[in-house]
Amino acid sequence: MKKTKILVLEGDGIGPEVTSCAVEILNLLNQKFELGIEIERDYIGGVCIDKFGVPIRKETIEKAVKYGIVLLGAVGGPKWEKNQVRPEQGLLELRKKMGVFANIRPIFDLPVKSNKTNTQFNILFVRELTGGIYFGKKKIYQSAKGKVAIDVLKYTDQEIRRVVKIAFEFARQRKKFLVSVDKANVLASSKLWREVVNEVSKEYEDVKVEHHLVDSFAMNLILKPWYFDVVVTENLFGDILTDEAAVLVGSIGLLPSASISSRRALYEPIHGSAPDIAGQNKANPVGAILSLGLMFKYSLNNDHIYDLIYRAVIKTLSRGYFTFDLSPNNYLSTWEFTQRVISNLET
Ligand code: IPM
Ligand code: MN
Repeated sequence: MKKTKILVLEGDGIGPEVTSCAVEILNLLNQKFELGIEIERDYIGGVCIDKFGVPIRKETIEKAVKYGIVLLGAVGGPKWEKNQVRPEQGLLELRKKMGVFANIRPIFDLPVKSNKTNTQFNILFVRELTGGIYFGKKKIYQSAKGKVAIDVLKYTDQEIRRVVKIAFEFARQRKKFLVSVDKANVLASSKLWREVVNEVSKEYEDVKVEHHLVDSFAMNLILKPWYFDVVVTENLFGDILTDEAAVLVGSIGLLPSASISSRRALYEPIHGSAPDIAGQNKANPVGAILSLGLMFKYSLNNDHIYDLIYRAVIKTLSRGYFTFDLSPNNYLSTWEFTQRVISNLET
């Protein structure tokens, strides 16, 4: 049997709780379908700083690069806020070294009461993940007039082109409509972004393209989410806009993501480590469980298992089973909810 190795990095806060739910489901499917998956665990984030003094170790990155499939929980927390080296740096380094430059964030309405809109929507965000202001030079220094801080926002045409192409490919498979979000009326990097989108669009004449400025896009996302299909944008805008989009769905705890390149992928819920509810068996495991689903879809080319997982989650929510974030007065624990999802897996 062919073996597939997967690196599991639970991280901080609710990371271990939600990831263990996804891993429980992975183990069941692995046995049932004899998938030959082997799991290896390692450390990232604050727990890694506590144990080894760094937010991720070189050997962990080597394994991630070698196996090419990583399932991650969350990183960060107040305990490390004042640290010189922050937990988040481990995640950024992992993304960079794995070369996973396209972060896919599907945002669709789910059957939950807290859904903030009565229209249907299904948006696929493609967020550039290994460039831009996240990775530009940073500096804080003392000048004669006071303190100065600098963050460099830099993009090369090649960095833009490769992520934009991925967005066009998705658009082609979906509604053939791509919205590119930038701030081309102010930023040089956005001018280049727009130029590259227009250039790539010549190879995709079947896909309709619109350019939106990030400020008005932020407004229209709330006003008419049904209007959008595939949305491509740079790193920081993508980070902010997908948290905004999560409000439409009802809880950020529900949303998965896949960070891909042609050879490697990293799967993680879009939520953070939620230190306020960590360790209480209260977190929503759906983001992590659907991230596992995306792993089957994109890394293992198994749409069948993706569908099984997705349908089990929908069924559980439709029957009125909710976690704390979705129904604070009447809720199932993280683990109880996961047991419901497992019982709804139509294997
Ligand atoms: C995300 C997170 C990360 C990011 C943090 C933890 C560095 O907010 O994946 O959206 O900003 O990319
Ligand atoms: Mn974020």
